[in-house]
Parts: sequence; structure tokens; C-alpha cells
Amino acid sequence: MQSILVTGGTGYIGSHTVVELLKNGYKVVILDNLCNSSPKVIERILKISKPNDQLTFIEGDIRDTNKLDQLFKDHLFEGVIHFAGLKAVGQSVSNPLTYYDNNVYGSLCLIQAMHKAKVKTIVFSSSATVYGEEAPVPYDESMPMGKTTNPYGSSKAMIEKILADQCIADSQWSVAQLRYFNPIGAHNSGLIGEDPKGIPNNLLPYITQVAIGQLKELSVFGGDYPTPDGTCIRDYIHVIDLAKGHLKALNKIQPVENYRQEHKQGTGENIWNLGTGQGYSVLEVITAFEKTTGVSIPYTKKPRREGDLTAFWADANKAREELNWQAQLSLDEMVTDSWHWQKSNPRGYE
Ligand code: NAD
Ligand code: WQD
Repeated sequence: MQSILVTGGTGYIGSHTVVELLKNGYKVVILDNLCNSSPKVIERILKISKPNDQLTFIEGDIRDTNKLDQLFKDHLFEGVIHFAGLKAVGQSVSNPLTYYDNNVYGSLCLIQAMHKAKVKTIVFSSSATVYGEEAPVPYDESMPMGKTTNPYGSSKAMIEKILADQCIADSQWSVAQLRYFNPIGAHNSGLIGEDPKGIPNNLLPYITQVAIGQLKELSVFGGDYPTPDGTCIRDYIHVIDLAKGHLKALNKIQPVENYRQEHKQGTGENIWNLGTGQGYSVLEVITAFEKTTGVSIPYTKKPRREGDLTAFWADANKAREELNWQAQLSLDEMVTDSWHWQKSNPRGYE
């Protein structure tokens, strides 16, 4: 049985990925400092995955190097899935040092601990944001990383670069840089989902909080973009499809025995977009939500939000061809599951 370290495993995407890992027979150790998640996630994961004694939770920070070294001594990990990080774009602009410390320094601590322990397989949570503001759509993996527009995006680009350099330095490393597009949705049990602290920044949690009556109305940022209905276009992807993509990537980058049997040969750096390949506008998302749930969403068009790009979506061919992975769940299923989660947990994990 393969043992995997999942940093940030109690967070939104991490928790869904842990459920998939357990379902597929992996042994999982979560390391999370709970700065943006609840310990209740563990009992919820176990409720979905029962019977299961293959999950261990360790509360801790990826910057705690002693804890990391001990963790790698206590467990024989086959690989790491690295979700831990801060992700609020606006906050990263006002507190760049916090973001570089947590995301870049934190990742460096993790990679160094892996290096010491000779664990050389890692799946990293990157983001479509690394393509930068000027990339033509659809984004494909052969494009160079572009000019990032905020410290959050820059932190992702820096971590990708560190991992790429490590692959050049040591051919035994296997790295999957997974560039997510816009994850939404939740597990269809309604037990785990996205639980933003305070007023949500992202579209779907905002919509579901309006729907449940916690927020009065949605502001649609900008109605004057050069798109068919004037609102921005994004590639929304169901978090369950995203989680499954991690297992496919992990499986693909497993090192192989080399011919001299002396050491395993890594697969080097691999970049895959995890998106559907299909873009939807803000108004299309609102319409899909209203149609599938029967709840109407009052909204007002407001000025553009600073930093928003007009439209981007993934070229999803590389992941389909190389990982045999393709998003399966529709926009209707995404918004239905987001709503089920919000209705079942009006105040998130509180
Ligand atoms: P999340 O905030 O729900 O999960 C991140 C988890 O990491 C949280 O549980 C948090 O407590 C933990 N964490 C943060 N810093 C830590 C540290 N120093 N040590 C230990 N644990 C720490 O976020 P998410 O939406 O699940 O995103 C997971 C990853 O995917 C992040 O790296 C994020 O940047 C990346 N990502 C997210 C999106 C998105 O839209 N959600 C898109 C692209 C990339
Ligand atoms: C989607 C669309 C908004 C809220 C962010 C990060 C990105 C990635 C995913 C991590 C946009 C519009 C939103 C609202 C609105 N994260 N909107 N009213 O900005 O595409 O991406 O999350 O890597 O890096 O930037 O996602 O959900 O915030 O916005 O009209 O109240 O919804 O303008 O067009 P975004 P989002």
C-alpha cells in the first residue's frame, strides 16, 4: 500500500483529494496547520470513507523543519501532494511577505525535507495564473510562464521554478505541476466543500451565500468586457474531477526501476493543465445556478474588479492524452453540488 503525504489536506481541494486517495487504497498522512481549514474536515472525510484506518492527521506547519524531518523519519512516503498555501489574491497584494514566506519558503522547507529523506515524487498545486496576463487563450502547457500580476501568482511561478531546477539537478525527481483553472463544486454527500472565511472573494461561494440569505446580492464585476454578454469568462472545473486528476498525475509520475537496478529513474518535470477546456461567463454561471436550484440570485453590475482578466480557459488535451484524464462533470453538476454543500452547512464547518 502506497503512503502519501498530503500537505494542506484539510483544505477545500485537499480534502476532496484525500477522499479519492482513500477510496483508491492509499494510506494518507495529512499535514495542515489549520490556518484556513477546520479539524472537523477529518471526521467528515472519515464519514465518507468509512471503514478506513488509513488516514492520519498531523497538525503542523510546512515551515516547521524539525516536524517535517521527523515526519519523513516516521513514515515511508512514496510521494507528496502539496496543497498547503495561502490563496487570497487581494491579501497577497497587501501582505506580499506573508505570501512569499508561507508559500515559497514553506515549499522550500518541504522540498528540502524531501531531499534529505530521499522522497523525490511530488504533485504540486499550481495555478493557471502562472500563464500571466498576456497569454493567448486557450492556455497550453507549451507556453512559457508569463508576467504574473500579484504576489500570489508570483509565489506559484517561483515554486514551479524551484521544482523544475531540482529536476534538472537530480534525475531521480518526478514532479507534476498541476495548473488548476477555477475549481468549484463539492462532494455530493454535502459533507465537505469550500468554506471561505469571512466574505467570499470567489464567485461560487458568493452566489451560494446570496442564495442562502447570508449576503444580500451579488456584485457582477464589469458588464463591459469584450465577451458575448459583457462578463468575464472562466474555465470552471468540479473539485471532484480535479481531485481525480491528482491521482492520475501521481500514478503517471511514479519513478521506474532503471536498468541497472541501482536507483529509480524519475520522470522529471511534468506540467498539466487541469481544466475542462470550456469557458463560461459570470452570467452563464448565475443562469445555470438559478435553473438547476430554482433559487434566484439578485445581482447588480458593478465596475470591473482590478486585476481580472477578460477570458481564459484551458487547452485540456495534454492531460487527456498523457494522463487519460478528462473532466466529466458539467456546470449544472458543479453548481448543484456547491448548493447542496451550502444548504447542508449554512455556516460551513462552524
Ligand atoms: P485552502 O485554503 O482551502 O487549502 C489550503 C490548506 O493549506 C488549508 O487547509 C490551510 O490550513 C493549509 N495551509 C496553509 N498554509 C499552511 C502551512 N504553512 N502549513 C501547513 N498547512 C498550511 O485552499 P484550496 O482552494 O484547497 O487550494 C489548495 C491549493 O491549490 C493551494 O496551494 C492553492 O493556492 C492552490 N490553488 C487553488 C485554486 C482555487 O481556486 N481554490 C486555484 C489554483 C490553485
Ligand atoms: C470568477 C469570475 C470575477 C466574485 C481566482 C484567482 C486565481 C485562482 C482561482 C488560485 C471573475 C467574477 C467574482 C464576485 C464576480 N486561484 N466575480 N463577483 O478571479 O478567476 O480566479 O480564483 O490560483 O488565481 O485569481 O475567480 O471566482 O474570484 O472570479 O462578478 O463577487 O467571477 O470578476 O470574472 P478568478 P473568482
